[in-house]
Amino acid sequence: MSSDERIRYSPPWGNASIIGVAGSSGSGKTSLALAIVASLNLPWVVIMSMDSFYKPLTPEQSAAAFRNEFDFDSPEAIDFDILVDRLRDIKNGKVAEVPVYSFEKHARLEQTTIVYSPHVLILEGIFALHDQRVLDMLDLRIFAEADSDLCLSRRSQACTSFSPYPVPSSSFEPTLIRAVVRDVKERGRDIEGCIKQWFSFVKPNFYKYVSPQREIADIIIPRGIENRVAIQMISSQITSTLATKSAQHQLELTRLGKIAEDS
Ligand code: C5P
Repeated sequence: MSSDERIRYSPPWGNASIIGVAGSSGSGKTSLALAIVASLNLPWVVIMSMDSFYKPLTPEQSAAAFRNEFDFDSPEAIDFDILVDRLRDIKNGKVAEVPVYSFEKHARLEQTTIVYSPHVLILEGIFALHDQRVLDMLDLRIFAEADSDLCLSRRSQACTSFSPYPVPSSSFEPTLIRAVVRDVKERGRDIEGCIKQWFSFVKPNFYKYVSPQREIADIIIPRGIENRVAIQMISSQITSTLATKSAQHQLELTRLGKIAEDS
């Protein structure tokens, strides 16, 4: 085998399939990603959250964040350069060092986490389908529709009683309830602050930046994890992509074996 051939050979883990899952905050992207992982039933599947790639804040920005006055819902808040860099590493079978983000501190932690050679990587985040460089690396583009679950709708009516802000009745509001409950339980926030941030930034920027990503999605999934048919379709699509890649890999091995025999 010539050194040229060796260089061109691409190991199977050097071509990870990357699936992007975008959607509003509280739309159930993480649950959907977990449901896809469960239905795939494969060992080398990793979920990577775009939250890991929020930019570090200046002291002034951090103070604003603690007052719920910093806009985390603009693409400007995300470090797309580092995200693209890490995705390229993963796609090329290299070790990728991924930042760990603390919502309680509005900052990256000292520690990092390692992602290495997954066969499938699910990238989930409000801007998973925003940056062209990311889009170019995606094998499948998914947009998770906000869940308009009836039960949560009812809870959103209850929300008006504690909210100092006007809560218009729309099918988007159940996501507010889900996000508030999650932020208070898991992200060290208070209800008033969450609602202030929602109406200042999350909701307006959903219409400005997040929703337009529907246009370039391959699949738009309503009803999140309840949508078993959609999850099954996605799982079949990914399985078939992996089978094609595996067949190509086998062909490559045979070709290189022949070259080695002949040389
Ligand atoms: O997990 P999810 O997609 O909901 O995370 C995105 C949301 O996290 C954004 O809507 C943003 O407002 C919020 N966020 C926050 N504090 C940070 C970083 C992001 O509330 N420090």
